[in-house]
Amino acid sequence: MDQPAPPFHLQGNFAPVQQEITALDLSVQGDVPAALRGLYVRNGPNPHTGTSPHWFLGDGMLHGVALRDGRALWYRNRYVRTRTFLEGAPVIGDLTAGVANTHVIEHAGRVLALVETSFPTEVTRELDTIGCYDYGGRLSTRMTAHPKRCPTTGELHFFAYSWLPPYLTYHRADADGRLVQSEVIEVPGPTMMHDFAITERHVVFMDLPIVFDVELAMSGTMPYRWSDDYGARLGIMPRGGHDADVRWVEIAPCYVFHPLNAYEDGGAVVMDVVRYPELWRPGAPSRTASLHRWRVELGTWRVREEALDDRASEFPRIDERLTGRAHRYGYAVERGGDRGAETSLLKYDLHRGVTTIHDFGAGRAPSEPVFVPASPTAVEDDGWLLTYVYDAARDSSDLVILRADDFTGKPVTTVALPQRVPFGFHGSWLPERA
Ligand SMILES: [Fe+2]
Repeated sequence: MDQPAPPFHLQGNFAPVQQEITALDLSVQGDVPAALRGLYVRNGPNPHTGTSPHWFLGDGMLHGVALRDGRALWYRNRYVRTRTFLEGAPVIGDLTAGVANTHVIEHAGRVLALVETSFPTEVTRELDTIGCYDYGGRLSTRMTAHPKRCPTTGELHFFAYSWLPPYLTYHRADADGRLVQSEVIEVPGPTMMHDFAITERHVVFMDLPIVFDVELAMSGTMPYRWSDDYGARLGIMPRGGHDADVRWVEIAPCYVFHPLNAYEDGGAVVMDVVRYPELWRPGAPSRTASLHRWRVELGTWRVREEALDDRASEFPRIDERLTGRAHRYGYAVERGGDRGAETSLLKYDLHRGVTTIHDFGAGRAPSEPVFVPASPTAVEDDGWLLTYVYDAARDSSDLVILRADDFTGKPVTTVALPQRVPFGFHGSWLPERA
């Protein structure tokens, strides 16, 4: 009997790699900019058994390249050794376990691998697992994989969502990494809240109509689906505020995994997001997302929605020195027709309303671009974009570095890696400590 084809997330460059590798002094085409001293690290699912019921449910694996003195010092890929990986503890339902596969950030000197269903897992800069991190016992909920660090105060704002009450909890850690505030935020029901935004004065929650479904949960797959009844709202709360301070405003139903950024503009909050007109409606074909802007007038609470670009995209990033402040540029992955077919990065110039494309060529697929400023005082867009590019012909991957302000130009650096880096999720640049 013919075996059914494996699902997309176990095929091609979505499939897991088998080995943890350490490779030193990598071969470099072009020049590694001398100003790049640090570690580029990206997280993604890599089921150690070789299989998982959904792309989102594979064990987290970190892929890192260390750069210094014009050289690519090493590449390492390491599983995040959670209790799920080590002992088979449940992926969901045990905050001290989970797959830790979605993002990796640094805050207050700790490097944290994140997944939205568990506590963070702390790792070293060599990508070895230290262990589960619960803010010294203060964190009592999950933690989103998309916390927001305020570049002015150094605070980390984050939240947790759950299908059991409380459905939403807001958290704030100070610049030293102490969890100083946790607030339950009332929402009508359990929705999938993947990300949010901050501005200089507010946080913005997205309560969108992807709702928890018990029957799907019982069937062992992703327990969320589109709802025609739930509605869609943004919750705007002063930073450090409480549930009573949240102003909820209705928006047209849609789904957003990832905002690009948000900021205050006069008496309004502006939020740029990669917006799906619909997601996960049972039986419906999947839809693509594109960059949209919401403008919420504070006081009248009127919302205006506008499309900023019509290209299908995901994984939007900015210069994170501008988190919560007005940005001009954004960078994202262009989505091709079929999963895995994307070959381009996009750069949005939102002042000029122009989008440019960097095409890596047939069979070369980039992943999320991470912006690194040329120096601490460099202007926006003066810096580099780092991304892993999968080359189907070689069945291997490169770390590619582009000048952000010469976006369509030839890559500055191409570092050949000793194995392919499966398509994954999010990463960070961790500058070397002085
Ligand atoms: Fe994400």
